[in-house]
Amino acid sequence: MLEKIGEGDFGIVYAMGDRVIKKYRVAGCIDHLILADLQATGCVPRLFKYQTDRYVVMERIGGETLDEVNPFDVIGETWEQGLRDVLHKIVAAGYLPTDLSFENVMLTFAWRV
Ligand SMILES: Nc1ncnc2c1ncn2[C@@H]1O[C@H](COP(=O)(O)OP(=O)(O)O)[C@@H](O)[C@H]1O
Ligand SMILES: [Mg+2]
Repeated sequence: MLEKIGEGDFGIVYAMGDRVIKKYRVAGCIDHLILADLQATGCVPRLFKYQTDRYVVMERIGGETLDEVNPFDVIGETWEQGLRDVLHKIVAAGYLPTDLSFENVMLTFAWRV
């Protein structure tokens, strides 16, 4: 049995060891295309496998989404700069994040105090 670890409007995410599988809820999701394009930035999970309109398998990020993070537990200020750097890299790669929200950004445990 796969353990469900997250969901959003576009998919349901299940843990698979050190990877996750996101099963698309709707047709036309292009996560795999965007992930492939952004691999070199190091800001997105590694992409392993996908099937158009069905699923994408990617690296499981060991961390928490920004809405789960306790601000007192993270290394102050530097992670905000880290977030700015990530946004710069994504924009430089030709993407404008239009679905930016606390659930859509993960902070790895490396940022914990
Ligand atoms: N690679 C990942 N590693 C760990 N958790 C993830 C990963 N991808 C997604 N999640 C979790 O699943 C949730 C939903 O994933 P998301 O890609 O945002 O789906 P949607 O596009 O439907 O909003 C995220 O908010 C996060 O909690
Ligand atoms: Mg989401």
